[in-house]
Amino acid sequence: MEKVPLALDVDTGVDDACALLLAARHPRLDLRAVTCVGGNAPLPDVVRNTATVLDVVGRDDVPLAAGSPRPLLEHPVDARHVHGADGMADLGMPSPRHPLDPRHAVDLLKDTIDAAAAQGTPLTLVPLAPMTNIALLARMHPGSFARIGRIVFMGGGAQVSNATAAAEFNVFHDPEAAALVLDAAVEHAVPVTMYGLDVFYEPTLTRADAAALIASGRPVAVFAGRLIEFLCQRFHAETATIGDAGAVASLCDPTALRTQRLPVRVELMGSWTRGRTIVDLRDWTGDLDHDPHGLAPAQVDVALGVDGPRLARLWLESVGGA
Ligand code: RIB
Ligand code: CA
Repeated sequence: MEKVPLALDVDTGVDDACALLLAARHPRLDLRAVTCVGGNAPLPDVVRNTATVLDVVGRDDVPLAAGSPRPLLEHPVDARHVHGADGMADLGMPSPRHPLDPRHAVDLLKDTIDAAAAQGTPLTLVPLAPMTNIALLARMHPGSFARIGRIVFMGGGAQVSNATAAAEFNVFHDPEAAALVLDAAVEHAVPVTMYGLDVFYEPTLTRADAAALIASGRPVAVFAGRLIEFLCQRFHAETATIGDAGAVASLCDPTALRTQRLPVRVELMGSWTRGRTIVDLRDWTGDLDHDPHGLAPAQVDVALGVDGPRLARLWLESVGGA
């Protein structure tokens, strides 16, 4: 089976760390680059956390670059109430050795996309954070953006929200960026999959799974188990979602995801709805014909269902193995 060349844009983040572990280890995936953006935690913490994960999985070969410390327009806020003071479960990990690439994240993404396209295997770009870096890429290097094979982003929700009653954190953090990325995807005919909150919470693991990972004594498994255990403790629960890692797992097992190609817009104006991904689920032509807004130009493969246990098991086996 041909490997999927991919790059992750992250705001590591406990679940971003789970995603990085899988992206770095699964035999179906060819991790080419990782870029960082402010989000769950301030950018310096995100860079440190991401470098730590790449150390844990021994991927010195994967370039890591820092990008935007803040959204295009919004002031930065973080989610350390979820991810811990250091942004990654406060595990007390040693300072990372992984070097920081001298390029800006946008330039690393450009070079990675162009190299993959030149090899005839267009890159899959996986934003798991506010899409500020991706929006900057679209405006600074439109030719490279057009060479992206597919964007699979964790963000938004058709009928589920978290940051506000209307919006999901990544899109709420930088709605302009999300809207710009969808606009550029239409302009350059880049296919987009939205792994939103409608599926995000489905792939879960138990405290017992976490304990077994930790008991294995294998460094990657122990680290993975401690991440899951942290989330269970944080939410006083017996289970925790692998979050962002589900988007990466769906690349390994696409049949686990049920998607529907739907028009999607990002609300930029609403007092209470700013940052909402408006997924158009209507199916009657009459309504559409009389809609003054018209159909959203962006036709996105929206994940509406997932085999959660299957993706959770894929993650568990990949991070838990020798
Ligand atoms: O809403 C969930 C998203 O926000 C995830 O990417 C999580 O890491 C946070 O960034
Ligand atoms: Ca994230």
